[in-house]
Amino acid sequence: MTNIQFPAGFTWGVATASYQIEGGATEGGRGASIWDVFSDTPGKVANGDSGDVACDHYHRWQSDIGLIKALNVSAYRFSAAWSRIFPSGRGTVNQQGIDFYSRLVDGLLAEGITPYITIYHWDLPQALQDQGGWLRRGIVDDFGAYTDALSRALGDRVKHWITFNEPWVFTWLGYTAGVHAPGQVSDNPATALAASHHMHLAHGDAVNILRANVTDAQVGITCNLTHTYPATATPTDMEAAARYDGFQNRWYLDPVFRGEYPADMAQFYAEHMPDIQPGDMRRMGQPIDFLGVNYYFRHVVEDAGTHTPKPGDLDSILRVRMERPEGEYTAMGWEVYPDGLYELLKRLHSDYSPRAIYITENGAAYPDTVTTDPDGTKRVHDDRRVAYLQAHFEAAKRAVDEGVPLAGYFVWSLMDNFEWAFGYEKRFGIYYVDYATQERILKDSGRYLAAVAATQA
Ligand code: FCB
Repeated sequence: MTNIQFPAGFTWGVATASYQIEGGATEGGRGASIWDVFSDTPGKVANGDSGDVACDHYHRWQSDIGLIKALNVSAYRFSAAWSRIFPSGRGTVNQQGIDFYSRLVDGLLAEGITPYITIYHWDLPQALQDQGGWLRRGIVDDFGAYTDALSRALGDRVKHWITFNEPWVFTWLGYTAGVHAPGQVSDNPATALAASHHMHLAHGDAVNILRANVTDAQVGITCNLTHTYPATATPTDMEAAARYDGFQNRWYLDPVFRGEYPADMAQFYAEHMPDIQPGDMRRMGQPIDFLGVNYYFRHVVEDAGTHTPKPGDLDSILRVRMERPEGEYTAMGWEVYPDGLYELLKRLHSDYSPRAIYITENGAAYPDTVTTDPDGTKRVHDDRRVAYLQAHFEAAKRAVDEGVPLAGYFVWSLMDNFEWAFGYEKRFGIYYVDYATQERILKDSGRYLAAVAATQA
């Protein structure tokens, strides 16, 4: 095998999110979030798991910085918990929450690790959900106040800001499919579209707030993007693929990069379109510095024929069906398809020309086993995860060679953690976490990333 060489200065990093790793759910003045309430609702999360303790990162953050350092990466993407900063969503800043992230940032910088902070990775304060959550237009100002407080406190040291993580996921899975917090179920797109509209406004406002508060700010948004292939070349399947692309990709990219909703989708959503007030579209389309791409798998889509929307069933609402191509799948049931990443990056570059792109998440869940060497060293030989990463790194490099301005790559995740509705069952980490003892064990994939980050090869 020949080595491929990434450009000097290419950023390697690892990613996490607050609710998935922190624990300390009632400490430091933290208020409840929608994920606390959702996890406590019987039947919502596998095995009744919750993020109450998670990886106990709230107490172990110092040694966790050591884990990041040992990977030779230069960047760490994490999120802030809104309810640590404003326990009931708005009002008086909780200084203990600010202090927690401030110490973390100082600790990272002391080790030469650049912090990339995600402002919202799904853990909305429950107090705001009680007032309507993302369905209430007033949340835009609440998010603005939260962004303002966080960036005033950290903006002297944190320069890379991601407004939202995966808007498609928290709006559609949270407000239509019901499999994520707050667990609302619907048989039409209106609620997710209203939530998305408010998210877009909040994003646009946040870009301006960050520019005002942070000198040399680098501001972006992270979307879960997928390359979408038609199951056949028939016009109906081609249209179904375009519809799915509009649903998951363009609905979140066009407002950000073009200040407009995709016309074909607006027509499809018809009477379910959100209430767009004068000035809204301009407000959403503020220039950003980078696009964050979370890529896990592709979609192969066919037309469902009849349109019979069922509550919570997104495909039926979209009138599509998903193909399950032959191939390799991860423990999530997600197809391993590195070419989809290459195609996606090329397409984003040609259709939207973002100034820079970061892969802000990519990785894989597989069942892991811990073995012990004769000298007592614990190991996780996760060959499939190594192969997954290697193939995706290669796909990304091909895009770089063809002129895509890819600036960095964050592996999901630093360590095994609370995988939302799947609880602790699915392991995405490049460190294994023994939840009974909170011991972290470097997997072979972690060794692999450490070698890549050290050599850029
Ligand atoms: C993404 C989420 C992240 C993690 C990975 C596996 O959708 O952003 O928190 O759960 O999937």
